[in-house]
Amino acid sequence: MYLLIPAAGLGKRMGSDRNKLLLNLLGKPLLAWTLLAAESSHQIRWIGIIGQSYDFPDFKEILGTISLTKPVVLIQGGDTRQESVYNGLQALPKEAKFVLIHDGARCLATPNLFDSCGEILLTCPGLIAAIPVKDTIKIVNNNNLIEATPNRSQLWAAQTPQGFEVKLLKDCHEKGRELEWEVTDDAALFEKCQLPVKIVAGEETNLKVTTPVDLAIAEFILRQRLGIN
Ligand code: CTP
Ligand code: MG
Repeated sequence: MYLLIPAAGLGKRMGSDRNKLLLNLLGKPLLAWTLLAAESSHQIRWIGIIGQSYDFPDFKEILGTISLTKPVVLIQGGDTRQESVYNGLQALPKEAKFVLIHDGARCLATPNLFDSCGEILLTCPGLIAAIPVKDTIKIVNNNNLIEATPNRSQLWAAQTPQGFEVKLLKDCHEKGRELEWEVTDDAALFEKCQLPVKIVAGEETNLKVTTPVDLAIAEFILRQRLGIN
């Protein structure tokens, strides 16, 4: 299974002056935790990290410190996540039939989650890890008035990994570029092309580190996991 890690963001909502994936989380850059989980997954055999070229020296330093056994390539990212993944897809080895895409910012995903996504992907064209939402979600109009309250039992919070048949996802990306679709994840492209996307049980702790609070929560979860006070 081939893995692409989008890591080319700016981390604006983190309010830091550099890519949030380079911030320290319990003694390691955030991205190192993501890579170590991928390294421990039996399903993953190749890792592509999609980043901005100005971050490559830092990425190389991380790779030097954690020395992975799997082949790793650095791929030039784009201005949006969608563009970054597009570039990643072009950089996959020719023989790649299936791809998992996992946000670098989801540094607490377990190797087990990569494994289950990788296994299930062999049986369907597209999947995403997701969990049922805990909050009641409101649809709100431009005047800050509620328009609707969707039935919570049908609402799921999308996570990554997301996995796809490479050829199908490439076609969806091409169509999206042609028709100028703007999406925040790859499943949305699949949906727009009327292709089925299966839900796989995600993990409650698989949060996307987005704001400073998330970083504090991630540290708490890691400390619990590793038995550090
Ligand atoms: N990402 C990417 N290329 C971009 C934008 C985002 O590869 N042009 C990646 C991020 O590095 C991250 C993932 O997509 O791993 C999810 O994006 P997000 O959490 O929004 O990260 P940022 O875009 O860095 O954060 P922000 O939106 O707050 O600037
Ligand atoms: Mg972003």
